[in-house]
Amino acid sequence: INIKPSSLLFSNLIHYLGLSHHLLVLNFIIDSLGKKSAWSSAQVKVTDTDFDGVEVRVFEGSPKPEEPLKRSVLYIHGGGWALASAKTKNYDELCTTLAEELNAVIVSIEYRLVPKVYFPEQIHDVVRATKYFLQPEVLHKYSVDPGRIGISGDSAGGNLAAALSQQLNQDTNLKNKVKVQALIYPVLQALDFNTPSYQQNANTPILPRYVMVKYWVDYFKGNYDFVQEMIVNNHTSLDVEEAAALRAHLNWTSLLPASIKKNYKPVVQTTGNARIIQKIPQLLDVRSAPLIADQEVLRGLPKTYILTCEHDVVRDDGIMYAKRLEKAGVEVTLDHFESCFHGCVIFASWPTYFSVGIQTQNSYIKWLNQNL
Ligand SMILES: *[C@@H]1O[C@H](CO)[C@@H](O)[C@H](O)[C@H]1NC(C)=O
Ligand SMILES: *[C@@H]1O[C@H](CO)[C@@H](O)[C@H](O)[C@H]1NC(C)=O
Repeated sequence: INIKPSSLLFSNLIHYLGLSHHLLVLNFIIDSLGKKSAWSSAQVKVTDTDFDGVEVRVFEGSPKPEEPLKRSVLYIHGGGWALASAKTKNYDELCTTLAEELNAVIVSIEYRLVPKVYFPEQIHDVVRATKYFLQPEVLHKYSVDPGRIGISGDSAGGNLAAALSQQLNQDTNLKNKVKVQALIYPVLQALDFNTPSYQQNANTPILPRYVMVKYWVDYFKGNYDFVQEMIVNNHTSLDVEEAAALRAHLNWTSLLPASIKKNYKPVVQTTGNARIIQKIPQLLDVRSAPLIADQEVLRGLPKTYILTCEHDVVRDDGIMYAKRLEKAGVEVTLDHFESCFHGCVIFASWPTYFSVGIQTQNSYIKWLNQNL
C-alpha cells in the first residue's frame, strides 16, 4: 500500500510553509473536489435541513407498502474532527448506498468542525441533532421505526459515534434507545500513541502517527509544542498522577491477542512531562476517549460492530474497545481486514475505486442489514 493523495501532500506543504491553517486548506481542497448539493432519485430523497439548529442531510429510501416504517442510521462522517462534510461526494454516496440497501432513513450530521469550534462542541452538535431526531413526532414525520435506529461513523466520526452512544446510554430521560452502533476504524484514545498498531503504522500514508497526534492537538485547541513528547507517551508517564487510574483501561498487553501484539513492547515512560496534561486536560476526558470509560458506562451499550484495518494506527483502539465491551457484556462483532488501510470504506466509488473499499463497505452494510 502506497497511496498519497496529492491534496494531503499539498496541505502538508502549505503547513510547512506556514501559509495558512493546514486544516482549512485541506478542507477547502476536499470541498472543491466534490460537494454534492441536495438531489433526489427514484430510490432516494435527499434533503438538507437542520435538527435543533444542527445542520443535517437526510437520505430517505423510497416508501415500501409492505414496510411502512423504515430503519434509520445517524451517520457521523470522519476527517479528524476538522475535515469533510456530509455533503462531500464520498460521504453523500456512502449514505445514499445505505439508504438504498437498507431501505432506511439516513441522517448525516453536519457537525461543526475545527477550527470553527473545538472539543466538546462537536459532541454537543451530534448529541443535539440525535436527541431532536429521537423525538416521537420527528420519527413519525420520517416514518422511522423507533425500535430500529442505529448510530454509526468512521474515524473521528466513529469517535463521536462512540461518545454519543455512551451519553445516550447514561441518559435516563431518553425513551427511545438506540438498537446498534457501528464504528468504522474509530479513533478512541489519546493516551497511548505506542500501541502495536501505532508502532507498526507510524509512517503509513493517509494517517501517519504524527498527523493523528496533530488532529488530537487541534481538536483540543492545543499547540504543537508537545507533539514529539506525546509521540513517546511523555504525557502519560508513570509520574503523571491523573493518568494512573486510566491506564488499566487501555492496557494492551492484556486486551490484545498475541497475533496483534506480535513482538511490540509497551512504551511506558517513568518520568515525562506533567505539564502536557495540565495544559491539555481534555486528553484524559472520556468524551474524547470513549475507550477509557468505566465498565459501568460500557454496560448496557447497544449491540456493536467495529471495523478495523491492519494498516492503520488506530486499529488497536478498535480492537481494545471490542474486548472491553465484550467484558462488559455487550454483544460485539469485530470485523478485521488484513489488507485495508485507514479511510478505505469511503473509497468504494469512482474515481477512487479500490477493491478493499467495496469489500469493507459490503461487510459493514451486511452487518447493519442483519442486525438493525
Ligand atoms: C497490564 O496487564 C498486564 C498483563 O495482564 C499486567 O501484568 C499489568 O500489571 C497491567 N498493567 C496495568 C497498568 O494495569
Ligand atoms: C520525555 O520526557 C523526558 C523526561 O522529562 C525527557 O528527558 C525527554 O526528552 C522527553 N522526550 C521527548 C521526545 O521530548
